[in-house]
Amino acid sequence: MAKAKATAFFCKECGYESSKWMGQCPACKSWNTMVEEPTAKREPSGRSTGSVLRQLQKPVRLEEVSIDEQDRMSTGYRELDRVLGSGVVAGSLVLVGGDPGIGKSTLLLQVCRNLAAADRRVLYISGEESLKQIKLRAARIGTITGDLLFLCETNLDNIEEAIREAKPEVVIIDSIQTMFREDVSSAPGSVSQVRESTNILMQIAKGMGIAVFIVGHVTKEGVVAGPRVLEHMVDTVLYFEGERNASYRILRGVKNRFGSTNEIGVFEMQEKGLVEVENPSEYLLDGRPEEASGAVVACSVEGTRPILLEVQALVAQTNFGLPRRTAAGTDYNRVNLLMAVLEKRCHYEMSRYDAYVNIAGGVKMNEPALDLAIILALVSSMKDKPVSPKCIIFGEVGLSGEVRAVSQAEQRVNEAVKLGFESCILPKVCLDKMRSADRNGKIWLYGVSNVREAIGLIS
Ligand code: TYD
Ligand code: MG
Repeated sequence: MAKAKATAFFCKECGYESSKWMGQCPACKSWNTMVEEPTAKREPSGRSTGSVLRQLQKPVRLEEVSIDEQDRMSTGYRELDRVLGSGVVAGSLVLVGGDPGIGKSTLLLQVCRNLAAADRRVLYISGEESLKQIKLRAARIGTITGDLLFLCETNLDNIEEAIREAKPEVVIIDSIQTMFREDVSSAPGSVSQVRESTNILMQIAKGMGIAVFIVGHVTKEGVVAGPRVLEHMVDTVLYFEGERNASYRILRGVKNRFGSTNEIGVFEMQEKGLVEVENPSEYLLDGRPEEASGAVVACSVEGTRPILLEVQALVAQTNFGLPRRTAAGTDYNRVNLLMAVLEKRCHYEMSRYDAYVNIAGGVKMNEPALDLAIILALVSSMKDKPVSPKCIIFGEVGLSGEVRAVSQAEQRVNEAVKLGFESCILPKVCLDKMRSADRNGKIWLYGVSNVREAIGLIS
């Protein structure tokens, strides 16, 4: 007798499981994301997969747990190590997400090369590219030495066996959307396949103490299973982002069980693969127009590192009743809010002007410390008055036009000094706290307590 096929509905975004279809996912509230899929068969015993964890474990005291310094491996890239929390931990599962073509495979291949050169045993498993394609890519990024093995495979049972045989210290799975388990009847890339596959990989990582990197594609639409499903399961989630046509790539930590999140690593895609950008400020400010109105330099802190960047605004009289506003690289609503502050608190007639705000270099920054810079860029463009190119600006702006304190003001000012800036407009509260430090010879500090004072300084 044929058994009725068991199916359930899964949310593509978050993996929520339900027995009936719903228009809106009750867990993540996204619309139209429920898809019907066969449920994974649960086998009570017998399979080799997962048996690594099935040994009976005894509860222990923390003192009995030894931590080896060896457990952290350097990836050979300081930018990546910092995002991971000073290196990758043995036995951890790292998800590297990003749009297709952004450079995930390239980055991980380069990491493999570095690890192999440092005498680590590495296994790179690709479900997307043939060995020939990998070889071509490898030829671009330079010579590979050491113990680096490649495997083209998508069946997880075979992969598990290969891992047991090769006994690597680091495994790369490129990508999770191509992997499948035979005992799950849905197609590769579906929610249940992705979840079950990750489960196995987690058991391999934890059971055998192998660091596993998983590549996951994210696209706005059309991805069968968004890697969001995986975010809960893995130890570390990194997103690789950037504009397709700009060469910068930013690696952002979104979740990290072994270090802080919010750290970013900056890379540049070149002819011969990805190159680290150790000083992103210099890089982002390169080629900046001097003495142009509407361009100011702001400072944003990402994790522990201050980054200087250029905020540009173009304000032009509107030809229609409804002014146009756009924001690239920063939050659109925030820009609207700041324009409302200008209108209400400083009596600028912003409703008569179109406004375009842009963070140069194709990077995305959403720190509130950029507020003051955005406001001053808008005013500078509107009045057609350039702000000194040797001045940096940071501060959060509140709804009543007050300039509020931001964190790590010292570091921001130090970064500005390092790059040869001569003056700095910052929240007065921050300046008062910094008085003791002797920086007076190197940079002029102007503390402001509201937007009007700041505008007074530049006009
Ligand atoms: P890839 O790593 O294949 O992206 P993903 O794995 O995230 O889908 O990156 C492919 C892009 O990178 C492709 O557009 C070409 C570019 N690239 C270079 O510019 N230089 C290089 O040396 C390499 C290997 C790729
Ligand atoms: Mg790829």
